[in-house]
Amino acid sequence: MFETLPDTYIPLLPEVAAFLADPLLPYIDGRYTPPRAEQTFESLDPSTGRRLAQIGRAQPADADVAVAAARKAFDSGDWWLKMSPSDRSKCIWRLAELIEQHTPILAQLDSLDNGKPLETTRTVDIPLAAEHLYYYAGWCTKIEGSTIPVNEPEMFNYTLREPVGVVGLISPWNYPLLMATWKFAPALAAGNCVIVKPAEQTPLSALYVAKLTEEAGFPPGVFNVLPGYGEEAGAALVEHHGVDKIGFTGSVATARKIVQGSVGNLKRVSLELGGKSPNIVFADADLEQAAVGSTWAIFGNNGQSCTAGSRLYIQRPVFEQVLAGMRAETQNIMVGPGMGRQQPNLGPVISDEQLQRVLGYIEDGFAQGAQAITGGGRLSGALADGYFIEPTIFTNVRDDLRISREEIFGPVVCAMPFDDVSEIISRANDTSFGLAAGLWTTDLRKAHKLAKSLRAGTIWINTWGDTEAASPFGGYKQSGYGREMGKEAIDLYTEVKSVWVNTEE
Ligand code: NAI
Ligand code: MG
Repeated sequence: MFETLPDTYIPLLPEVAAFLADPLLPYIDGRYTPPRAEQTFESLDPSTGRRLAQIGRAQPADADVAVAAARKAFDSGDWWLKMSPSDRSKCIWRLAELIEQHTPILAQLDSLDNGKPLETTRTVDIPLAAEHLYYYAGWCTKIEGSTIPVNEPEMFNYTLREPVGVVGLISPWNYPLLMATWKFAPALAAGNCVIVKPAEQTPLSALYVAKLTEEAGFPPGVFNVLPGYGEEAGAALVEHHGVDKIGFTGSVATARKIVQGSVGNLKRVSLELGGKSPNIVFADADLEQAAVGSTWAIFGNNGQSCTAGSRLYIQRPVFEQVLAGMRAETQNIMVGPGMGRQQPNLGPVISDEQLQRVLGYIEDGFAQGAQAITGGGRLSGALADGYFIEPTIFTNVRDDLRISREEIFGPVVCAMPFDDVSEIISRANDTSFGLAAGLWTTDLRKAHKLAKSLRAGTIWINTWGDTEAASPFGGYKQSGYGREMGKEAIDLYTEVKSVWVNTEE
């Protein structure tokens, strides 16, 4: 730890203080390993801008070492051929238990790094990460091939599902440990060896979990963590011929670079990207539920969710009423440091870069004639050092404005009226994204009609934001390809092998 945190913060657990005291190192082949070039980068507390920790900055030479370790572990078969599915399952289950036991520590690390409320990381993010591992631990013993009824009478044909090999998992900063776990839980269950590249803004929790994998009984080289910048550590994994697959969550711009960088060995790529998800409130909805739900659809996690309900369409007769409800709900939101003794509802945005980007969108909105019925600026006073933005509801906007079309990834929503069902289907689908969509109605027919008509990977009806390990998640259009979670994620991290046996004597 470089700088002391304010005394208005919840005190750090001794384990957290000790973990942050020394430079944190990449975790390769079962041990923390200094990067070759001995360079470091810093992780900042977005609530204060203070420096939290110094971290070894992995570069291409370190990616080589990590890939060699993962390759060796994979090619030896120790994790997937020699270890029984049941034993692999037990390792993953033990990791889930260890994460659960270390929840107070991991929650502090994610709250310091990301800025989000400790209450959220402690009760939601970290328990969900453990839950993903429990769910996928169960899959190890259930990954099956099939027997195929081929036409040739003497031939017996069956399929095997095998791990893809060494996979690089590049994760974002919005739910630091959870987003990494979405990827490494199914990848490990399927028998792959993984190299996790956490976002440079939030590497702490993945580095902490690394040592728990040892306690859980993982052989060395199965689980590696390569902290560093996207353009260095991330790009090195993407281009590496020893990596068989990249799983990525983040921006569309970076996804394009990843697809281009992957062509050398034609590695598999799966992408979970952004969105501009339409949230539709019909006049026949439970309006109180819809107003509260729509408020959190956008402001949950400070709008820093790929599924944020950032395009809000309200049927004209109830436009003012729903907005009044949302405004009241929003004005009760307390924004502050995630580690504050007085726990806020929302923390800061992740970085100065994101702060400037989001404020840029807000300014652009005002310049185009948008009106903020609440919010509309940066928070000052005691919060002036952090990256705090007022939750902002814009009205007087049109579908074709930049703020209505581009992913802002901050606490900003565009509210627009609509008149009828066919109009709203075409407006909702008029986007290059397709991650999620939601609607509020008490009319069953309308609900199912829209569930079918909206072009998005997840549809929420009278709710928003639910995800579970068992339910597939991913995007249409430029929101990505491949589905995470559920049994679909097992498909994502396996190859299918067809075996022909001639039974003719
Ligand atoms: P980003 O997409 O650049 O970063 C995500 C991950 O990709 C990080 O681990 C980063 O180190 C890595 N990365 C960056 N450049 C790379 C490269 N050339 N090769 C390999 N890996 C690379 O996202 P960033 O810059 O942090 O945020 C910008 C915008 O991206 C946000 O405003 C938001 O719109 C979107 N975003 C979406 C997320 C989602 O959950 N869908 C999560 C984070 C960001
Ligand atoms: Mg970036």
